Amino acid sequence: MFDRLNALPADPLLGLITMFRDDPNPSKVDLGVGVYRDETGHTPIMTAVQKAAKHHMETEDSKTYIGPGGVVGFVEGIKSLVLGSESSVLKDNRIAGLQCPGGCGSLRVAAELLVRLKDELTVWVSDPTWANHIPLISSAGLPIKTYPYFDAETGGVNFEAMESQLAKLGPKDIVLLHGCCHNPTGADLSFENWKRVAELAVEKGFIPFVDIAYQGLGDGLVEDVEGVRYLSERVEEMIIATSCSKNFGLYRERAGTLLVQTKDSENARAIQTQIQDIARAIYSMSPAYGGFLVDIILSDNALRTEWENELNAMAARVKSLRSGLLEKIQARGIDKDFSFITTQKGMFSYLGINKEQVARMRNEFSIYMADSSRINVAGLNTHCLDYVADALKKVCE
Ligand SMILES: Cc1ncc(COP(=O)(O)O)c(C=O)c1O
Repeated sequence: MFDRLNALPADPLLGLITMFRDDPNPSKVDLGVGVYRDETGHTPIMTAVQKAAKHHMETEDSKTYIGPGGVVGFVEGIKSLVLGSESSVLKDNRIAGLQCPGGCGSLRVAAELLVRLKDELTVWVSDPTWANHIPLISSAGLPIKTYPYFDAETGGVNFEAMESQLAKLGPKDIVLLHGCCHNPTGADLSFENWKRVAELAVEKGFIPFVDIAYQGLGDGLVEDVEGVRYLSERVEEMIIATSCSKNFGLYRERAGTLLVQTKDSENARAIQTQIQDIARAIYSMSPAYGGFLVDIILSDNALRTEWENELNAMAARVKSLRSGLLEKIQARGIDKDFSFITTQKGMFSYLGINKEQVARMRNEFSIYMADSSRINVAGLNTHCLDYVADALKKVCE
């Protein structure tokens, strides 16, 4: 029976990992895979996470199941991390929350919830969006369309085009937005843009669906969610999928949350049962461990401060690599404006070079990035900036 199924083509990003690993060039640079790296190329376990893990190991006295919603303190902690302790929506108990296996799990449970509405909904994603959004959402059975987003000329957002598409939507439309640090482009909505999106959502009735996987890796923990908080205060209903993979460095532990904002607390209680039921039918319960660690960090003042300091240092490193790379590029007088590198936010940037140039970067210089020219800025280090800028100059000549 199984021989009717053929092998699938390799995932292009995973293919890059293998190519990079097998490349003998000592100067090789991996800008492909989307994980945070330190100056030595390592993806570290944050010190606050190590301390929380030690504490957890010493105090956990059972491995029995936790409740169907996941680690309660974790979900509550993430609600206020994202929406702020002053959120009126939180005060009114209008959020149903579920611990999920990473941001991906949260996105998928959200998609299943939308399917349950049997409403012929369409999910609108930015053009471009994170590649995994499409399979995660469409394999639940939801049609996907794109709204204009990235402006290749400026390296920013073409908000005029986005706005005019959103203005045509209605209550059967779900609009997926990146809370901050847009993946893959690094081009974020301004606060003014968020305000307009909120206005349109209220006026047209579409439901915002915010994916927030990089809180704290842009301008700061609070600054990165200002738009999301504004939106949440204005719309009746929305969905938020969060991930602790990047900002807590918990990738393999699969810690995320799905937050569903409802019209009132009674509906939140109903939706809580629905999302738990969805999880139960797919994987029963989320792994608890990552949630426990985040809960320990967020509820201990000293540990929380330590985590925030580490996260700020990671964000500062990425920012300084952005300005460092731009400086080196400008010093070489490359005939292309790369100044967007320092205005884009978070770990990713679209370099805006074509596929042939991307291939030359790889084949001639062993500098690896996605075909779209998305780079993981955190994959750079202070020692390779000259090398990368030299290579860019060569391929842009
Ligand atoms: C935009 C975006 N959303 C969600 C995720 C989900 O990550 P995870 O499932 O590892 O928590 C990622 C990870 O790369 C992402 O870039």
